[in-house]
Amino acid sequence: MITLDINGQKVQTDAEPDTPLLWVLRDHLGMTGSKFGCGKALCGACTVHIDGNATRSCVLPVSAVASSKITTIEAVGESKVGKAVQDAWIAEDVPQCGYCQSGQIMSATALLATNKKPTDADIDAAMSGNVCRCATYVRIRAAIKRAAG
Ligand code: FES
Repeated sequence: MITLDINGQKVQTDAEPDTPLLWVLRDHLGMTGSKFGCGKALCGACTVHIDGNATRSCVLPVSAVASSKITTIEAVGESKVGKAVQDAWIAEDVPQCGYCQSGQIMSATALLATNKKPTDADIDAAMSGNVCRCATYVRIRAAIKRAAG
């Protein structure tokens, strides 16, 4: 049995230690906000925060994060920065199909938590691992700037 700290709650799972965190979140715990895109750490749809850092959960063995603080899209809005990012996403009407957007929001929130006034280059660097097939990149950048205030 592995105990995880997810969104401030202690949660137990009997998943095999090498099960990717994304599977535990979605299939074992019913937290489906984090999405499966590629399963190879290439698209960013599965991004969560591990101790505040944007991390791909599809290639992360659950046993590796047993002593970490895990935050998912379900609770990111509980932080001031995360709420500002979600509000900006709505104000800028960012999503098209929406599939990648929880991962986008997690990466944007991790960026703004450590860089309150990111430049375009900072934004591009932080968001480069999050792919959007609808190409909402211009609105994503606008929303990040709005959230930065
Ligand atoms: Fe994890 Fe694509 S599903 S990076």
